[in-house]
Amino acid sequence: MNQATVPMESSVTFDIDRIRRDFPILSREVNGRPLVYLDNGATSQKPRSVIDTIDRYYTDENANIHRGVHHLSQVATQAYEDARETIARWINAPASRQVLFTRGTTEAINLVASSWGRDVLFPGDEMVVSTMEHHSNIVPWQMICEERCAKLKVIPMSGNGELDMDAFEGLLTERTRLVSVAHVSNTLGTINPVREIIARAHEAGALVLLDGAQALPHMRIDVQELGADFYAFSGHKVFGPTGVGILYGREELLDSMPPYQGGGDMIEKVTFERTTYNTLPHKFEAGTPNIVGGIGLAAAIDYVSAMDQAAFMAHEKDLLDYATSALCDIPGLGIVGTAADKASVISFNLEGQHPFDVGTLLDQQGVAVRTGHHCTQPLMDYYGIPGTVRASFAFYNSRADVDALVNAIRRAADMLG
Ligand code: ALA
Repeated sequence: MNQATVPMESSVTFDIDRIRRDFPILSREVNGRPLVYLDNGATSQKPRSVIDTIDRYYTDENANIHRGVHHLSQVATQAYEDARETIARWINAPASRQVLFTRGTTEAINLVASSWGRDVLFPGDEMVVSTMEHHSNIVPWQMICEERCAKLKVIPMSGNGELDMDAFEGLLTERTRLVSVAHVSNTLGTINPVREIIARAHEAGALVLLDGAQALPHMRIDVQELGADFYAFSGHKVFGPTGVGILYGREELLDSMPPYQGGGDMIEKVTFERTTYNTLPHKFEAGTPNIVGGIGLAAAIDYVSAMDQAAFMAHEKDLLDYATSALCDIPGLGIVGTAADKASVISFNLEGQHPFDVGTLLDQQGVAVRTGHHCTQPLMDYYGIPGTVRASFAFYNSRADVDALVNAIRRAADMLG
């Protein structure tokens, strides 16, 4: 099959060569070999339009926002608030004031844990996370549960990487205040049954936060249709800059939550006797934010919004199926995480080999993957392994990238003996 244009079930064609040309870094070499970038779960590459937007901002528009009457400050403020509108439209938030800029998913979760958690959790209250969570969706809850004498419960899972939904049901009590789970697992690629999780949690009277960091690179969401109370994601994983992310929240929740950090921009009036706070979204955005990050993220969203959603999802499904089948043919290779519903993420190990050794040999052949525990140590403990090698695909990857990965693993296996 011609890999440049993969026919889609929807009869839409996906012009992978044209898309790859939009991402300048994909044409570079690493270790004398064409780069095969399969570490998109860690961070994605950036299209030219995002790079140009950042360049143009610093060349033509740079100023601080919400603070000046001068021309550049007005231009920068408008661009930043327009970016918020773009992001709100992308996830179908009812209002852009429900879209808070953060440093990333990690800060978004910490914001909810610190602000909502400190206000609402009382001794004996309960929180639920799952076995496959990233540390950023475990540790902030451990910290606040310890402080508030609340209990953190964990949804168990099966060996193939699916949550045990019956066990989840059993964990919910009238003391459950919030369920916080990954929409998509960064290590396993499992797409969790979030609609069912939300329905059951809400029935029990609990709120739901979804960590969408690994979901949005692979799918579109509609926060209103989904019904999550909070949804967090990172800019750099959706083809935007690092250092910026989003917390979406239901308005009445955000309104009722106390500020997360104090400083400029989040206040209405400050005196030494008493300070009053700004309205949403500014109440949660103390200090000079990552202005260019927000504007660059909107440029990334403009880029992905212009793509045919059915086509890019079908392309990634094709990559996942093609890669899974090719990897299964490699002697001694075991895939970790074989859920029925997966995003294009494949973790694996070569029998008897440490993931770092495999990853190093792949890098020498120009293939970039992530190795280690992927910030999911409890998940590694569940499997009784120190880590995995993880190939995580984006829409700009091709079947040729999969072939390069497979050949590089075979060579690594030969070299490691
Ligand atoms: N959380 C990112 C990953 O899974 C960094 O690689």
